[in-house]
Amino acid sequence: MEVIRTQTQVGIVGAGPAGLVLAHLLHALGISCVVLEARDRSYVEGRVRAGVLEQGTVDILNELGLGDRMRREGLTHHGVEIGFNGRRHHVDFEKLVGKTVTVYGQHEVVKDLIAGAHARHIPILFDVENVSLHDIDGSAPSIRYTHHGLSHELSCDFIGGCDGFHGVSRPSIPEGVLKIYERVYPFSWLGILAEAPPSQDELVYMHSDRGFALFSMRSPTVTRLYLQCANETDIADWPDERVWAELLLRLQCEDGWAPHVGQIIQKSVTPMRSFVTEPMQYGRLFLAGDAAHIVPPTGAKGMNLAISDVKVLSEGLSLYYREGAMRGLDRYSSLCLRRVWKAQRFSWWMTSMLHRMPDANDFDHRRQLAELDYVTSSEAGARTIAENYVGLPIEGVD
Ligand code: APR
Ligand code: PHB
Repeated sequence: MEVIRTQTQVGIVGAGPAGLVLAHLLHALGISCVVLEARDRSYVEGRVRAGVLEQGTVDILNELGLGDRMRREGLTHHGVEIGFNGRRHHVDFEKLVGKTVTVYGQHEVVKDLIAGAHARHIPILFDVENVSLHDIDGSAPSIRYTHHGLSHELSCDFIGGCDGFHGVSRPSIPEGVLKIYERVYPFSWLGILAEAPPSQDELVYMHSDRGFALFSMRSPTVTRLYLQCANETDIADWPDERVWAELLLRLQCEDGWAPHVGQIIQKSVTPMRSFVTEPMQYGRLFLAGDAAHIVPPTGAKGMNLAISDVKVLSEGLSLYYREGAMRGLDRYSSLCLRRVWKAQRFSWWMTSMLHRMPDANDFDHRRQLAELDYVTSSEAGARTIAENYVGLPIEGVD
């Protein structure tokens, strides 16, 4: 069959937050790119995921001129609440570290990025099939794919592997090159979106004897809630009444606070995993976001890490195209991994501090409560949550 040959500077696989932000960063630098996405546009825009943006993520979106709707509709949060023993404790980010976070759904970010790409004529091809990467260890890599039944080959200088955990980029790296670090947790999250106004302004991370629960939100009319559940959970076993009854029990507080109950408009189960690939580069292929690492959602780091990776990558590419220097790209993996591992540590720590561990004994549980007491009553303890939650600095490549 005839192959249609095209060319660009950077071929990007995947139109999630990593691929789309990379495309915008490169466009702003005058570097050409093409984004190849396996799913259709409405699927990508409708995929409900987390929704807490670090200040650094907000800054990147604003600098790219993509922050108008986020500034209008996003909710600025000055802190979070950590609850245990029926009481909630405020961790004041603004007071402790002078920063805030913004609650704005990941799929809203993705919608803004796609609309912005269309307005700027950044090419995104949806519904591509049979994506495969070639010659990634040479100086002229290429991506083959089919689109609307036609075969294509895209020649490029570099490839951004932004295709998530189940994509083709990571498996394209020869066996034996990557080292994988992984932990699978013995529980999952059952998440709902409910048509109910949030009953307070801040998120509540609640440890309870019945398991962890999280109160979050999406807008002044939509509440987002999660509860810890068993790994094999079948969503059919959780009719709406059971979800609400369990959430209300876990979130119960001495002061009578409770979330408002409303119509459930979305329900899903998410497994919890920590995963890191080292290095995040092989030849001219650079892995970014979920293609390279997964964090459990307790620290709200997934999308933020994806965006900080591609920020570093865009700086490395900028140096290459400005000066012909590889030094920024050569540092990509080690610079990202330093930050990734700290986010891994924070996400693992929040997860282990807040959940009921199935194999924990009474000693472990008492120690866990002491830790929650410490981080909410000591300024040093609260500061470590605040500093990590709002996001550690993104180091530049030069
Ligand atoms: N070819 C093209 N596209 C692909 C392929 C493929 N073979 N495989 C996967 N994709 C696409 C997916 O359809 C998805 O749109 O790559 C995209 C990857 O996007 P995400 O999974 O959102 O990953 P990333 O951009 O790294 O963002 C990380 O997403 O999973 C959440 O919590 C995570 O918030 C974090 C964020
Ligand atoms: C969410 O609102 O979806 C959310 C918030 C905080 C988290 C995880 C998910 O830690």
